[in-house]
Amino acid sequence: MKKRIAVLLSGRGSNFEALADSIAAGRLPDTEIVLVVSNREGAPGIEKARQRGIPARVIPSKGLEREAYDRLVVAALDEVNPDLVCLAGFMRLLSPYFVERFRGRILNIHPSLLPAFPGLEAQRQALEHGVKFAGCTVHFVDENLDAGPIVLQAVVPIRDDDTPDTLSARILDEEHRIYPEAARIVLEGHYRIEGRRVILESGEPGKA
Ligand code: GRF
Repeated sequence: MKKRIAVLLSGRGSNFEALADSIAAGRLPDTEIVLVVSNREGAPGIEKARQRGIPARVIPSKGLEREAYDRLVVAALDEVNPDLVCLAGFMRLLSPYFVERFRGRILNIHPSLLPAFPGLEAQRQALEHGVKFAGCTVHFVDENLDAGPIVLQAVVPIRDDDTPDTLSARILDEEHRIYPEAARIVLEGHYRIEGRRVILESGEPGKA
């Protein structure tokens, strides 16, 4: 049976597309995206999912308490029984209720080398801090913001003439490369977790 991914997003949806493209290209084998959920009406990612024939639902979060909202999303996920939940630009912190229901089966992508620059506008934070290397991180999700064990990272050198836009674009290319790879590692179970460390079976960072 195919492995089942659900994607949660709030906006553009390019990481969702990278996952879908990787499945179509066979880089994420025996896998399907069974549902895309957005908490925002009009998120372009929802339209992109529908164009690909992937079930997509808007579950608006406006005005709802965190856990009340998460119960709605968990109910929608329970209907499709995902093996993995991929947050892809989902602009909400998950409640302990949600995390407990899918513990160890939720991934997020963040556009910095965590634990540096969690939260919003990570690329701008990196530029303003003056670091020489930025990047992106795929990590398991726990109750804290951008905090769970790290599966994969990619490094992006910062150029003197970078703006938040130019840096974000180069980081995004790496996001699209490592998110499907991390999803494959987790879905195939080619890792173990020791404390905060995700040890890949191949012994090589980035190769399962
Ligand atoms: C990405 O930069 C991701 O790292 C961050 O939000 C952005 C989402 O972009 N969490 P997209 O919607 O996947 O295009």
